[in-house]
Amino acid sequence: MTGPAAAPACPELFTWEFASDPYPAYAWLREHAPVHRTRLPSGVEAWLVTRYTDARQALADTRLSKNPVHHSEAAHGKGKVGIPGERGANLMTHLLNIDPPDHTRLRRLVSKAFTPRRIARFAPRVQELTDSFIDSFAERGEADLIHEFAFPLPIYAICDLLGVPREDQDDFRDWAGMMIRHGGGPRGGVARSVKKMRGYLAELIHRKRETLGDEGADDLISGLIRASDHGEHLTENEAAAMAFILLFAGFETTVNLIGNGVYQLLRHPEQRQLLQKAAAEGDEGLLATGVEELLRYDGPVELATWRFATRDLTLGGQRIAEGDPVLVVLAAADRDPERFPGPDVLDLSRRDNQHLGYGHGIHYCLGAPLARLEGQTAIATLLTRLPDLRLGADPDELRWRGGLIMRGLRALPVEFTPVR
Ligand code: HEM
Repeated sequence: MTGPAAAPACPELFTWEFASDPYPAYAWLREHAPVHRTRLPSGVEAWLVTRYTDARQALADTRLSKNPVHHSEAAHGKGKVGIPGERGANLMTHLLNIDPPDHTRLRRLVSKAFTPRRIARFAPRVQELTDSFIDSFAERGEADLIHEFAFPLPIYAICDLLGVPREDQDDFRDWAGMMIRHGGGPRGGVARSVKKMRGYLAELIHRKRETLGDEGADDLISGLIRASDHGEHLTENEAAAMAFILLFAGFETTVNLIGNGVYQLLRHPEQRQLLQKAAAEGDEGLLATGVEELLRYDGPVELATWRFATRDLTLGGQRIAEGDPVLVVLAAADRDPERFPGPDVLDLSRRDNQHLGYGHGIHYCLGAPLARLEGQTAIATLLTRLPDLRLGADPDELRWRGGLIMRGLRALPVEFTPVR
């Protein structure tokens, strides 16, 4: 923190202006108050960590726990962290809320089922889904890319991967829609959707366990059950929590990777042209570095990375008390000029791009290979099939869903020459 005489005012956080462009405020925080205590809109007091080096250190610091029981306010029944409607056990016992040794055991189990091979085998299905959503609006010459493309793609993809029968997948789309629309709003509706999803998943897991047989189905839930049946223990509750976190962690993040990514490409015509050419020529190198750069430049996860101090500690020169929540601001760290030359420039061919968009350390995003597959397929196919894609609204009119967890567009209107 700066001394009183030099301290200019901290820009207002969590306003509409902040949601539509948080980067100037992040630059201010990095420079003047890199570990900054603030009151979140929920009323919870937390530390924001905005410099790359501090952020990376915090993400891997074993003194910072992911378990909300370590939140000082939780002890007084005031803690407001977590999934609405879920307290204590149930779906809260998932990877993002636990520490070793439980985390190590559960992550090992799910890693056996969520393998890069399984994701690679899934590529044709992601392509098929991508094409079918584009088909649904291609003849119109206009679309809302959030609702008609970025939103349904990941939800149907994860449902397929998990082994949710096709006839039930529309229910998941509706529950997920409730969560994304009202994530920071009326808790009642979200809690009801979470409850329905929990009930459905518990039943599905039970059914799959009973019908697994010798061969078994080749879906992720069956894989999870099988992994647990071979030596290591995974309770039905843990399996339901695992399926839920795969949906929860892999859904809105991917919506916003595609939404923010396409939006930034439309705002950077030279970069977009480079990527369009690469996609048409099947140059996977630029596609891969390009999607990583889009994640760094305008990633979906803002502050979702809660940690709680299990003891008094010092981070970035700031003393943090036991029980204090710490939020690592990935989007701020990923624009740190100390780490990324020209951080505010979108450079799709950027090398040495160790951004923190997928986190770091033992909680590093389990779904990164799937997110990359979906992001690259969605963006490449869109640019190839709709080559004159353009924004259908003034950028100033676009509304951002800001929040503590994700940052993404509410709608992304686009226009293009209709294709049959
Ligand atoms: C963890 C980002 C897509 C599943 C994380 C974390 C981040 C992240 C930052 C670490 C959080 C922390 O340390 O507190 C993203 C982004 C995505 C994405 C930006 C898309 C662009 C996915 C997908 C899935 C997924 C598609 C699965 C279907 C998970 C899981 C964890 C996680 C299970 C918890 C891992 C653990 O605690 O061991 N993700 N994610 N994510 N992600 Fe993702």
